[in-house]
Amino acid sequence: MSQVVEKIRLRVAEKTTLTPHVVGVRLVSEAGELPPAEPGAHVEVTLRNGISRQYSVVPSPTRGDWCVAVLREADGRGGSAYIHDKLAVGDVVEATKPRSLFPLEEALEYLFLAGGIGITPFLSMIEEAERRERPWNLVYTGKSAETMAYASALQSRYGERVSIHETLGGTRIDCASVISAHPRAEVYCCGPSSFIDGVKTATEAAKREVHVEHFHGEAHPHEGEQAFELELVDTGITLMVPADRTALDVVDDAGVFVPSSCREGTCGTCETPVLSGEIDHRDVVLSAKEKAQNSCMMLCVSRAAAGTSRVRIKL
Ligand code: FES
Repeated sequence: MSQVVEKIRLRVAEKTTLTPHVVGVRLVSEAGELPPAEPGAHVEVTLRNGISRQYSVVPSPTRGDWCVAVLREADGRGGSAYIHDKLAVGDVVEATKPRSLFPLEEALEYLFLAGGIGITPFLSMIEEAERRERPWNLVYTGKSAETMAYASALQSRYGERVSIHETLGGTRIDCASVISAHPRAEVYCCGPSSFIDGVKTATEAAKREVHVEHFHGEAHPHEGEQAFELELVDTGITLMVPADRTALDVVDDAGVFVPSSCREGTCGTCETPVLSGEIDHRDVVLSAKEKAQNSCMMLCVSRAAAGTSRVRIKL
């Protein structure tokens, strides 16, 4: 079976409009102290509508609470709309303990590249870089400054170490120039896929490393999915994955252990070798080349491709 994740009951203590499309939510524990969150850590919040989503923990001026910032996603799975439209002060939600898949390594200097709501993990990372007394710079891109939560607060607090890049006029950030301007810095990037792709291309060309955090993969079945057979070759069983369930949930119910963490196609924990059957890859872990090789799949999000009725996996 998948790992049982301990959940903490939290009460919504405050909900604040940060921009027309971003709300801040402050969560307090119903049972005393909360575990600390490492810089860049996230919590997975489960809402009353059953949807779970991951949010970076934003530093809070008060101790003993967690704050998250939530962008209303027009094409999301309903989690952000629920938080914006229905979640109210006093409501109870459940959350996992903070987990860090995007840790701030020791480095001489940092360059943080944020796209839109991808700013959130950097808020705690900046505080940590300050604590370590390491130089850092933040480049924060978004449509316009007023749509970018925290832009003015960061600029007034940290001055020219924060540069704001507005894309409203169609100007894309020149990632190569930004990266070459900070030759000694360890590069961290979070934002939409298109932004991350641009940063990855630039860092690859410059033979530099980049630490990346994606928001989330294309999670959970949509309407109109197809059921498919999943043959667990080592276990010797074949399972039916219905249209409305994930392969990971079905395998889990069958009592076969697959380690998992994000369950959104972002961490790579549930990667499983594929022996045959074409896969519709929906994770953000594998590169395009790896997806084309079709030799493994993330069971939490990926499914049989259209026209494939049976997938055989090494499990
Ligand atoms: S559990 Fe994270 S990719 Fe599947």
